[in-house]
Amino acid sequence: MKVTLAKADAVTATADVLAVPVFAGPELGPGAEEAVAALGVPVAPLLEARGFTGKAGEAAALATLGRLPATVLLLVGVGERDKVDAEVLRRAAAAVVRQGRGSRKAVTTLAQALPAYPEVAVQAVTEGALLAAYRFDKYKQAKAGSGPNGGRPPAELASLAVVPAAAPGRGSGGRGALTAALAAGQVRAAATNLARDLSNEPANALHPADLAAAARRLLDGKGVTVKVKDEKALAREGFGGIIGVGQGAEHPPRLIELRYQPKGATGEVVLVGKGITFDSGGLSLKPADSMKTMKTDMSGAAAVLAAMSALADLDVKVAVTGYLASAENMPSGAATRPGDVLTMKNGKTVEVLNTDAEGRLVMADALALGAAAKPDAIVDVATLTGACVVALGNRYTGLMANDDALAAELLDAAAEAGEPTWRLPLPPEYRKDIESDLADLKNVGDRYGGALFAGLFLEQFVDDRPWVHLDIAGPARAESDDGYLAKGSTGVAVRTLLTWLERRGANGRPTGR
Ligand code: BES
Ligand code: MN
Ligand code: ZN
Repeated sequence: MKVTLAKADAVTATADVLAVPVFAGPELGPGAEEAVAALGVPVAPLLEARGFTGKAGEAAALATLGRLPATVLLLVGVGERDKVDAEVLRRAAAAVVRQGRGSRKAVTTLAQALPAYPEVAVQAVTEGALLAAYRFDKYKQAKAGSGPNGGRPPAELASLAVVPAAAPGRGSGGRGALTAALAAGQVRAAATNLARDLSNEPANALHPADLAAAARRLLDGKGVTVKVKDEKALAREGFGGIIGVGQGAEHPPRLIELRYQPKGATGEVVLVGKGITFDSGGLSLKPADSMKTMKTDMSGAAAVLAAMSALADLDVKVAVTGYLASAENMPSGAATRPGDVLTMKNGKTVEVLNTDAEGRLVMADALALGAAAKPDAIVDVATLTGACVVALGNRYTGLMANDDALAAELLDAAAEAGEPTWRLPLPPEYRKDIESDLADLKNVGDRYGGALFAGLFLEQFVDDRPWVHLDIAGPARAESDDGYLAKGSTGVAVRTLLTWLERRGANGRPTGR
């Protein structure tokens, strides 16, 4: 689907679908008044009969019967007028894309529902639309059968034209800024969809070496250099965690280093992503049902890779080094056993009491390497614990940090990106629970509070640098299509990272509200 900035007056624009916002009430929003007037019939009784009140998430399609150039007038609920924000617009745009399936061309005035922030609105509508248009169907045969559209699902909208709000003068950058906002929305959605693609890929098609190859291929021409350590280099250089997790698999582990170095960089940050291409649990084998989704245990790495693919396009001013810690966690005669001791990159020793707590082992090595360069900040992203899902459910990212200011930056960025995030503590009084009788640390804590023990474990490897840990075990996947999320991998954290990095670089393009 193509998203463009519309020049024409929306009501008279030729399109199959005209999508307009309606505030709670229902109260017709920008473009809706004119469109309804052109219909020449009262719509209130119809909307009432359909139970449409203008709440965010509602949509009502009306036939225009030749009164408008568009064949369908789509009324999209955006809720209370003064509560409209970027996230409301992302979801509203997603509704246009979902309702518009089977049509070719749509035009929308949704962005005008947030007139005080024209650029934010255009970016949000673009993002929501392109995220909602995502499908992972590469493994589906395109079979031309019977029924409408040859038995295939209805075709995606070919294009969406976004009518921006008239620039309110003060604080707005005019047409150029709107074009930049649209481009930013496209880049952010493409990056998120790239993370989804990588993460939806089955584990038999994406082993650690394939992830490395994908990084080289996808980051080529994106201002990011890629260096890969194979299993020999990892063993030689003391990455005991990554080797220990990967040694049971036929397909050996990789540590993938991504480097973005803009001219005149204003700072230096490190990102680390968990790249377990399949988590069987290892010898501490998972039950069959828990394994079904474990191809997405590399969603953190996918998020870091994808975010870095967008840095040059967004003109981010910060230097960024990304590490993808990638291994396949498999049981075999060569696998790490419960009770084994590993020596990590920073010299700390770890007694592995549960081989299914593998994420923290690969992350620890990468964090130690990243911290050694003394960056201004470290952010890691990992599908780390089921306990975080128990605590926060499927939609919230769990954030842990050793630095309140950095935590606040990431929480702000996440809120702006529409990725719900909640801070969890790293209680010093729990540290003793990950002390081992035999080694410096053990890789599991108490039965309760598992997300925090994982966080406390990682903290031991960041050498007191400012650090934020994002546990995305819940929101990495969606169980059904919902808003701009598609069933399967969500690409969560990509847009949080990008918003954070853009702000840290303070490149001047207006972001959220
Ligand atoms: N990859 C899992 C965490 C996970 C669970 C992600 C559910 C997504 C959905 C992780 O490696 C794991 O297995 N963690 C264990 C840790 C335990 C053994 C201490 C867990 O959460 O059960
Ligand atoms: Mn595991
Ligand atoms: Zn895992």
